[in-house]
Amino acid sequence: TWKMDSFVKTTILDLKEKIGDGKVLCALSGGVDSSVAAVLLSEAIGEQLTCVFVDHGLLRKDEGDQVEAVFGPDGPYKLNFVRVNAQERFYRKLKGVTEPEEKRKIIGEEFIRVFEDEAKKIGKVDFLVQGTIYPDVIESGLGKSATIKSHHNVGGLPDYVDFKEIVEPLRMLFKDEVRAAGRELGIPEHLVNRQPFPGPGLGVRIIGEVTAKKVRIVQDADAIYREEVDKAGCSKNLGQYFAALTNMRSVGVMGDERTYDYAIALRAVLTSDFMTAESAEIPWEVLNKVTNRIVNEVKGVNRVLYDCTGKPPATIEFE
Ligand code: XMP
Repeated sequence: TWKMDSFVKTTILDLKEKIGDGKVLCALSGGVDSSVAAVLLSEAIGEQLTCVFVDHGLLRKDEGDQVEAVFGPDGPYKLNFVRVNAQERFYRKLKGVTEPEEKRKIIGEEFIRVFEDEAKKIGKVDFLVQGTIYPDVIESGLGKSATIKSHHNVGGLPDYVDFKEIVEPLRMLFKDEVRAAGRELGIPEHLVNRQPFPGPGLGVRIIGEVTAKKVRIVQDADAIYREEVDKAGCSKNLGQYFAALTNMRSVGVMGDERTYDYAIALRAVLTSDFMTAESAEIPWEVLNKVTNRIVNEVKGVNRVLYDCTGKPPATIEFE
């Protein structure tokens, strides 16, 4: 639209002027906000921008490669892209940890440490990019009441990095405007339309201890679920839809063999603000197909459950 066209043009000019020949650092998560912020900066100042993308080993299947394909050296943008493969580092820290808040805290802190290590290598930067959007601005001004879950956001880094100023090119935009700006900038649809994905990633979709094996199980099951829901054309109104790994194993039978394997939970919610949500109705034949594929294709799973709970009393994520 002309409105977004002019937003993009004006913002690029403003950023050019503000930054001059300064050095800029951006924590890129692959989410819509940080992706659009990064591309705006890249269009404005090109290689003066460094984007650091931390793969904490809790991303969805192939997500790291998808982000790299867009922002890395073979992608369309000329920026400095640093991908940190920190899987082992996170799995080591999470070993034996089962308490949800403890897991969140570890993932959030380790993320900052990894980012800080990379920022040190880059040295002093002039500007740090934050993908803050308008609803974040309002929310932080309201003084939040009781915290239900400690939140991990890629944006929350400024204290740890040596920089002069923060740039927040999206702070006047609502989410749908951010997506429109992303389309205007030619960012691929799968990134522009990406459903929200929490900072702690699959860490909050694996109940109990996180291990490399459990991550593999939930990634594979989730990829099948999303593929089938998309293919059936029922993802349009869904706020979020994903698979989670319960910490429950149960008895099953496969051929002549008794199995004792994990149960996958499927979730899909309708929501307007993510503060409340209701469980969405996914057609039975889609669930049936997903179930058959998961138990056949994902080793270690012998049962698939559908989560019918709204929020409240459940939360959208499992931890
Ligand atoms: P819950 O599970 O609290 O989630 O109903 C509400 C929304 O917030 C997302 N979420 C997070 N997003 N960092 C984020 O950036 C986090 O730590 C985090 N925890 C939950 C969740 O995916 C849902 O959209």
